[in-house]
Amino acid sequence: MNEEFYHEPVLINETLKYLLDSGSKTGYTVYVDCTLGGGGYTKKILEESPEAKVIAIDRDVFAIKHCKKVLEKFAGRIIFVQGNFGNIKQIIKDAGFDKISGIVMDLGLSSYQLSSEAGFSYQKDTSLDMRADKDQKLTAKDILNRYDEKEIMRILYEYGELRYGRKIAQEIVHSRKNKKFETTFDLVGLLKNLVPARFLNSDLSKLFQAIRIEVNNELENLKRVIEDSVDTLEIGTKIAAISYHSLEDRIVKNGFRSDDRLKVITKKPVEPGEEEITVNIRARSAKLRVAEKI
Ligand SMILES: C[S@@+](CC[C@H](N)C(=O)[O-])C[C@H]1O[C@@H](n2cnc3c(N)ncnc32)[C@H](O)[C@@H]1O
Repeated sequence: MNEEFYHEPVLINETLKYLLDSGSKTGYTVYVDCTLGGGGYTKKILEESPEAKVIAIDRDVFAIKHCKKVLEKFAGRIIFVQGNFGNIKQIIKDAGFDKISGIVMDLGLSSYQLSSEAGFSYQKDTSLDMRADKDQKLTAKDILNRYDEKEIMRILYEYGELRYGRKIAQEIVHSRKNKKFETTFDLVGLLKNLVPARFLNSDLSKLFQAIRIEVNNELENLKRVIEDSVDTLEIGTKIAAISYHSLEDRIVKNGFRSDDRLKVITKKPVEPGEEEITVNIRARSAKLRVAEKI
């Protein structure tokens, strides 16, 4: 494992201000951090709420291993779970709780994953893997080398909102007849020949995002976690979600609004100030939404 696991948490003070201000009637206080990553959120919850425990979930085994080390002094107050937050109900049950006192999800990838793990970044030539959970079977290569053109086109339009989705899908299917897709630069090379240079970086981000969403079933998991976590929230406690692109934000917004067990607290999403964006470029697209169980 790379020891240089790093991630600068986004909107952490704003999120925890909402999350930690509700009392608990169950006799215990347990929060769920659905996206442990580098542990920034879990650590701050435990520091600010000395009575609390955290169920800390991540699909990525490296995140869990890293946090077991760096959060060692909180051992006994953290229940680590390597798993998919889409299974939140079962995870909470297995941890031995009926109700929880708040839930946070800081979506997407950690900076560590983007820079070190296979296939996530178009800036490095690595294997086209893109699995957040390496126990899972489906990889980006499977999609690029096996899915039919229509399926690829759907993914590019739905998950990447790519202008040239049809053309890119056609070219993927054409190109793999000569040589199968193996590394990220195979995909970068393909796009370079298809889109104007001024759009290349933004289209590469969208293309990688689209395939990553399919590999990790990200949007379905998000829908599930929002629906299912409301059942487990104690009345008067909150769910907070930080998203980084419009597809995620739409699911969070609609998930909160359409659930009559929730009252939306943030009428408009909370966004980072200039200062945070200057020191942490990843914060640029972040949107925080919070709802309360009523
Ligand atoms: C933006 S990072 C979280 C960073 C964290 N808040 C911190 O302070 O370091 C997102 C994390 O969520 C994890 N993740 C994404 N989707 C997941 C899912 N469906 N289930 C569990 N973990 C997931 C990723 O593996 C990644 O580590």
